[in-house]
Amino acid sequence: MPRALAGYGIFFRQFIQRYHTTGAVMPSGRPLAAALCRYVGGAPGPQRILEVGPGVGAVTMTLVERMRDDDDLCLVEINEMFVAYLQEAFKERPQLRSKAPRVALVHGRVEDLSREGYDLIISGLPLNNFTAPEVDRILHGFARLLKPGGVLSFFEYIAVRSAKTWVSLPKERERLRAVDAVLRRALDATEFRRDWVWPNVPPAWVHHLRF
Ligand SMILES: C[S@@+](CC[C@H](N)C(=O)[O-])C[C@H]1O[C@@H](n2cnc3c(N)ncnc32)[C@H](O)[C@@H]1O
Repeated sequence: MPRALAGYGIFFRQFIQRYHTTGAVMPSGRPLAAALCRYVGGAPGPQRILEVGPGVGAVTMTLVERMRDDDDLCLVEINEMFVAYLQEAFKERPQLRSKAPRVALVHGRVEDLSREGYDLIISGLPLNNFTAPEVDRILHGFARLLKPGGVLSFFEYIAVRSAKTWVSLPKERERLRAVDAVLRRALDATEFRRDWVWPNVPPAWVHHLRF
């Protein structure tokens, strides 16, 4: 089976088996990956980049293409199936293999990362699946991991949270409203650019924040 299709298969199985952390039916498309990687390779000096939740590497591919030779990339992924898939991909695919010496793949939760000083964080976390205190902790964690002036780029599917809020039972509705409030507060205070990505399933916003 071609590798890209195998990636879709693994991703879909993880969506079924670990909905809470996977959060999407399929990996991000190229236009969404491009918007998430807007600030990769765009600084005068070398960048330290963190990708959170790379899954099967849909965004990682674009990131690695845009990375310069003296940039460093850390990937942190909670799901061991995705970690195993990426380990193989970094050995087998020439575009990934050539950058492998500058890439660290960490199996774990981003919440547990201690190394700070990133210029750029690109996150694929399914924030809508978490509680409001968890989202708040994750955003504060991102602010701690970034250098002053560093950028966080993350996406959310357009209108999905509000649609879910409408059709949910009261307890779930309350959780989604609380997540929305945490995200709105962070975006109001720190978002400096938003990209609309229509050619994605479903369409998405990419938020770019500076804390
Ligand atoms: C919506 S998928 C995004 C995958 C990929 N970035 C993409 O755009 O196709 C969410 C990813 O975040 C990972 N993840 C969820 N919670 C995590 C956590 N606390 N720390 C690290 N990775 C996490 C999941 O295993 C999954 O790979």
